[in-house]
Amino acid sequence: MLSEKDFICQNAPSNIIEKGSFQWSAPSNIALVKYWGKKDRQIPANPSISFTLNNCKTITKIDFAKKDNQNNFSFDLLFEGQPKEEFKPKIQKFLERIADYCPYLKYYHLTIATENTFPHSSGIASSASGMAALSMNIMSMEKALYPGIPDDYFFQKASFLARLGSGSACRSVKGSMVVWGHHNEIAGSSDLFGVTFPSAIHNNFKNYQDTILLVDKGEKQVSSTIGHDLMHNHPFAEQRFSQAHHNLSNLKTVLENGNLDEFIQIVESEALTLHAMMMTSLPYFILMKPNTLEIINRIWKFRNYTKIPVCFTLDAGANVHVLFPENVREAVLQFITTELVGYCQNGNYICDTIGTGAIQIL
Ligand code: DP6
Repeated sequence: MLSEKDFICQNAPSNIIEKGSFQWSAPSNIALVKYWGKKDRQIPANPSISFTLNNCKTITKIDFAKKDNQNNFSFDLLFEGQPKEEFKPKIQKFLERIADYCPYLKYYHLTIATENTFPHSSGIASSASGMAALSMNIMSMEKALYPGIPDDYFFQKASFLARLGSGSACRSVKGSMVVWGHHNEIAGSSDLFGVTFPSAIHNNFKNYQDTILLVDKGEKQVSSTIGHDLMHNHPFAEQRFSQAHHNLSNLKTVLENGNLDEFIQIVESEALTLHAMMMTSLPYFILMKPNTLEIINRIWKFRNYTKIPVCFTLDAGANVHVLFPENVREAVLQFITTELVGYCQNGNYICDTIGTGAIQIL
């Protein structure tokens, strides 16, 4: 089992290079069992599992050039081709957090150029895909400096670094389903990085679809970071954390045997529990909007009537992720366009599917 110190570069690089460039894309992911609550150093309070997405992604290029002063980080940040000062503090904080693990970053001036395939103001968090894409680039730099590092280590450390940027980002390195957080029944699972769900996944879940209904694109009133914090001293915290372990156990069985009714029950209960935690923390808050509830009720009605196994999940916001197997795609998309689009802001939604994880472009 790897520990934190296994991710520290022990020796000086064998291969000092003057400059170079890399580019990676990394997708967003949607949790089925939710991460909500954490301990120090981005250690999750409970294990979580997610579908890696395919179309919603961040594409990040890093150019690095050797510099004289090796005491500080030095970087420029471009978002969609333009300098973006507002994003810099988050990146600075991330670089400081990973400094001990990636000391070579201080040898270089970095130019980080990043863009998303989804609109920035869509309410889809770009922190998971963004931190994952940046971590992949950093690991490409590490591989250039330490050519001998094995592939497994490359991806595990990428996920480990991404976690230090944003917890859920560690689940965006690989596909198609990733577990993060130690769970007794999931071999290799760790609090330090995400691992691909180790059992064979039933055919029902191959190519699973996620249509994201953009209900509210506004800035959230309460950030995830604050929300996680409110799980300290939360009256239901311990029960919630143990429920997540049970739900992951049950979901593991479901992913193996393909039982869609049970899948739906676990996934919707997780989504509502996440929001119940928000409503019962102090201070309490609500991220769902009236249209979020309208959509949930419409999905329930449609499912009751048609018996089509479509369900929803939510992340920390008002948008609704509509999840369904590929073989009912046509009927569900028809339902979405006739009954649900009216509840989306400007009628906007994004069709996505399960994906395979980060991809190197350059
Ligand atoms: C509700 O990963 O965004 O989406 O670690 O503070 O960056 P930080 O939080 P973040 O939290 C995601 C919470 C969630 C559930 C999940 O993705 O598991």
